Amino acid sequence: MTVDSRSPRTSLIQQLESDRLLGIRSLPMREPAASNVAGGSQDSKKITDVSTKDKTRRLRDVDDGEVKNCRKCGLAQTRTQTVFGQGNAAARLVFVGEAPGFEEDKQGLAFVGRAGQLLTRMITAMGLSRDDVFICNVLKCRPPNNRDPSADEILACDSYLRRQVEIIDPEVLVTLGAPASKTLLNTAEAIGRLRGRFHEYFVSGGTGDGPSIPLMPTYHPAYLLRSPGEKGKAWADLQLVMKRLGLPDPPQ
Ligand code: URA
Ligand code: SF4
Repeated sequence: MTVDSRSPRTSLIQQLESDRLLGIRSLPMREPAASNVAGGSQDSKKITDVSTKDKTRRLRDVDDGEVKNCRKCGLAQTRTQTVFGQGNAAARLVFVGEAPGFEEDKQGLAFVGRAGQLLTRMITAMGLSRDDVFICNVLKCRPPNNRDPSADEILACDSYLRRQVEIIDPEVLVTLGAPASKTLLNTAEAIGRLRGRFHEYFVSGGTGDGPSIPLMPTYHPAYLLRSPGEKGKAWADLQLVMKRLGLPDPPQ
């Protein structure tokens, strides 16, 4: 695959530059819910830490106790290792991609290849770091030769992502690319029509009951590497996310 390594970077690098001028912003942790504070003599920092620790432990339980040894679909036979995802267990923002690729399968980490490097720049352009957010995929194992996930594989793996979202309980989800967006929104609509506005992700499945989380579909960074002309649209989507989270706009 030949990819022009210069042009996709230009506007994000500009964003990076403006970010440097502005100084590093960090994504503040959510305030603890009032119910967590009840009866407490602890200060809020401590309560936040306890909730982060608890979420980290619960995520680790799902990973160590279930995902690492999962054989619910055929990808168990071809993977090198599972890729649970990584980042801040109490993140206000979660990115969801499609499935691990070659590098991810090798390293056991989500978005660490070329697409991952662009995702890092997108996150940095938002004034955040990868440690502020959580990054994972619909599938926890690599499909051979990066083929598209099958419907069976998505169904088999679905409960892990649902549990991750339930535990982290972010304020916003961003789905990267068509497969993740269509899967989480349970729709056949094209990514070009889904992006640009918030949808709802129903945490316990289905399309209308129970708690939901605002979801912004946008283009996959691997697609943006191939089609740098679309980066402006992805950046517009991320700016809507920043607005929703109350993050300041970087200078134009
Ligand atoms: N593409 C994805 O969808 N996920 C990764 O983790 C890497 C590349
Ligand atoms: Fe299990 Fe998901 Fe991996 Fe399939 S892709 S083996 S369901 S963890």
